[in-house]
Amino acid sequence: MVKKGIILAGGMGTRMSPLTKAVNKQLLPVYDKPMIYYPLSILMLSKIRDILIIVNKGQLETYKKLLPNGKNLGIKISYLEQKKPNGLPEAFLIGEKFINNNKVALILGDNFFYGQSLTLTLKKLSNFKQGAKVLLHKVFNPSSYGVAKLDSKSQISLIKEKPKKFISNYAITGLYFFDKKVVEYSKKLKPSRRNEIEITDLLKKYLYKKKLKSEILGRGGAWLDTGSIENFNKTSNFVSTIQNQQNVKVACIEEIAYLNKWITKKNILSSIKFYGNCEYSNYLKKIILSKKN
Ligand code: DAU
Repeated sequence: MVKKGIILAGGMGTRMSPLTKAVNKQLLPVYDKPMIYYPLSILMLSKIRDILIIVNKGQLETYKKLLPNGKNLGIKISYLEQKKPNGLPEAFLIGEKFINNNKVALILGDNFFYGQSLTLTLKKLSNFKQGAKVLLHKVFNPSSYGVAKLDSKSQISLIKEKPKKFISNYAITGLYFFDKKVVEYSKKLKPSRRNEIEITDLLKKYLYKKKLKSEILGRGGAWLDTGSIENFNKTSNFVSTIQNQQNVKVACIEEIAYLNKWITKKNILSSIKFYGNCEYSNYLKKIILSKKN
């Protein structure tokens, strides 16, 4: 099992300007909650309780107003800053002490996952001894993502970052699980043509050693990278449709903590106080009144 997780929540959000001029992308609302609740919920569903959030320089205090330390969620949240968006694997250099020779999960702050068998998939992803694991999902526009080609035994045979020429429909989503070697390998990466160190180059190090495995998020699951205005709105609409149809919330972090038995009703009551009189608090009230719990 993987016990530590990092949310990479920096970046300039240039593609979403002017929305992101004054507010960090991951704090913008995806329907009824800040974007960061979604990746955080995925780590919590993976049963990860020790979480490092990496934010842009100067944004620490803003994030802490929303997610102070994790106590009310029965988890530990710590923060570190990234000076400049130098590339995704920089998370492992910034987080070296936090990782402290353990396995670690990384989720990108703008990635959204949803699906019925997701919890099972997350369990499979975090269950490994050595190497790295990625989550693949079929997309119609693979040239926008890191892409993996699978061989006849469904093993990854090739990886490319945003390939211009078609190699496969399988995008490598922004959720990765690594063994402790990740820090050592990240230190050896050289910047790419876009002057960033690339997660796909890091994955290649595992691939060439035959230590890269994958799980597939199938048709019953949804993955959206909320990095463009179009996808950002699509995700909000998706969450609104699901929630209003089923009357349950997607990524209610207190509910996940409560169902994981990490917190008690007392913690939920204190969250209600924290959020104040709002629709989200009304939902939390329903959770503690529900007979099932
Ligand atoms: O979303 C999945 C894709 O994410 C993968 O398929 C690609 O292989 C991977 O390179 C990445 O591609 P993007 O071009 O979408 O990454 P982007 O630069 O948009 O960064 C993703 C998130 O990470 C975004 O919320 C900003 C944040 N970020 C990014 C960088 C480069 C940081 O916090 N720090 C950084 O240094």
